[in-house]
Amino acid sequence: MGKIVTITSGKGGVGKSTTTANLATGLALMGKQVIAIDFDIGLRNLDMLLGLENRIVYDVVDVMEGRCNLSQAIIKDKRSRGLHFLPASQTKDKSVLDKDKVEKLLGSLKEKFDYILIDSPAGIESGFEHAIYLADTALIVTTPDVSAVRDADRVIGIIDAKSKKAQQGQEVEKFVIINRVKPQLVERGDMLSVDDILQILALPLIGLLPDDEEIIRATNLGEPVILNPKSKVGEAFKNIARRLEGEEVPFKELEEKEGFFSRLKRLFK
Ligand SMILES: Nc1ncnc2c1ncn2[C@@H]1O[C@H](COP(=O)(O)OP(=O)(O)O)[C@@H](O)[C@H]1O
Ligand SMILES: [Mg+2]
Repeated sequence: MGKIVTITSGKGGVGKSTTTANLATGLALMGKQVIAIDFDIGLRNLDMLLGLENRIVYDVVDVMEGRCNLSQAIIKDKRSRGLHFLPASQTKDKSVLDKDKVEKLLGSLKEKFDYILIDSPAGIESGFEHAIYLADTALIVTTPDVSAVRDADRVIGIIDAKSKKAQQGQEVEKFVIINRVKPQLVERGDMLSVDDILQILALPLIGLLPDDEEIIRATNLGEPVILNPKSKVGEAFKNIARRLEGEEVPFKELEEKEGFFSRLKRLFK
């Protein structure tokens, strides 16, 4: 049985889709069968990040409404073996997702894939509850500013109240990803430190991602930055994929690397 991993946040624009695209690619590179699903109905952009926008024929709502079958809608990535993609619908009607249909769809995906990565809308938007309802694991993405962290905290509360696991008395496994870290700003006290954020959210850290213009370039190319072996932020994404696989990857890069990571280390004090 595959694992449903929902990539979510309180605030929009913090890097959920970027994270989903890179993690899906990273897990596929590790030999896993992965499907990335865009649940951000009406705002889809995961297709562009993966460079698959021209291959879309059907979308997730078409599957749920029975207008096509699953294999007609699933797009196989040609670069990364094992990577698959299911696009969001472009419809303006955000209430198109139906709980039972979502459950049926994700149930059948669990039989076929090792990882089902759901790119969620931000916590305030509709569709969010569907994206977190069946999660086995939730990755909460935040940037190091107060408003994003506060909204992330609220979303953690919703996951603990409204997920299926919570309703059954179990707990969704939850981790924090801190994105767009700019060490200089943290040092100046303009942004929250890693420790501050982890203390507020009271969850384990699974990823630290620098603010990096390489991401914008990769986005424009439709080629996840993780495919660039020289990229530091690509390496940080690889580490998240390994940690998700249960590997103990200490945040050791903090000690060994120059630049971003060595500066970052000081932020842990
Ligand atoms: N680490 C980063 N460094 C620089 N830009 C980033 C980084 N992460 C995300 N971005 C940019 O921020 C914007 C929002 O990212 P996106 O992944 O679409 O967020 P979300 O899905 O949460 O709305 C995009 O323009 C993206 O390229
Ligand atoms: Mg997004």
